[in-house]
Amino acid sequence: MRINIAIDGPSAAGKSSVADKLAERLGYIHLDTGAMYRTVAYLCDIKNIDVNDEKSVVKALDEATIDVKSDGTIYLDDEVVNDKIRDPKISMQASTVSKNPQVRARLVAMQQKIATSKGYILDGRDIGTVVLKDAEVKIFLVADALERAKRRVNQQAQKGVMLDLDEVLADINRRDLQDTNRAASPLKKADDAYLIDSSFLTLDEVVDKILEIIKEKVKEG
Ligand code: DC
Repeated sequence: MRINIAIDGPSAAGKSSVADKLAERLGYIHLDTGAMYRTVAYLCDIKNIDVNDEKSVVKALDEATIDVKSDGTIYLDDEVVNDKIRDPKISMQASTVSKNPQVRARLVAMQQKIATSKGYILDGRDIGTVVLKDAEVKIFLVADALERAKRRVNQQAQKGVMLDLDEVLADINRRDLQDTNRAASPLKKADDAYLIDSSFLTLDEVVDKILEIIKEKVKEG
């Protein structure tokens, strides 16, 4: 039985790495919904649109085409944007465009359409509460902010990018605050989501925990 899995949680909690590993173990497809908000922020950046100007952002989005392939490649019109959307400047702008209800409506519709055939793992902020309310397994992945900042610094260092821990921590706290307090679909644990604190767990330990939950659910269902 193929199911859908929702993974939500704050920035840099490891959602994407967990979802990637799970997808590999299960033969499922991982859809990184944050990358879609980041692509809208990148679109604003290259078009010189203020991310707070809601009307102009929606107009630009309606004139563009965002296409997410099953291997995770993201196209903005004809351009592959996977690396460009990871710039720290884009992170905060993505958090701001994600407050826009009309942007959310458009991206949520795309995400729901993609996941209709099941066998998907979606990670984001509103997957269990809005996008896939009926997902068979919902996970809310949290971790201490300092641990998340340290992980982000280490991850980037491995790619040769040196970041300042205090700046990364401040950025994480700013985004958490904005993502949790926005009016439209704020970051929130769904009532039926399993809470996993990954602060002191390895990636494999988190993945094993989720595989156990999936096994139980599939047995029940
Ligand atoms: O997961 P991420 O850090 O790449 O996401 C970038 C921003 O997009 C994040 O600050 C909040 C927003 N987002 C959202 O509002 N809803 C989602 N489902 C995914 C991301």
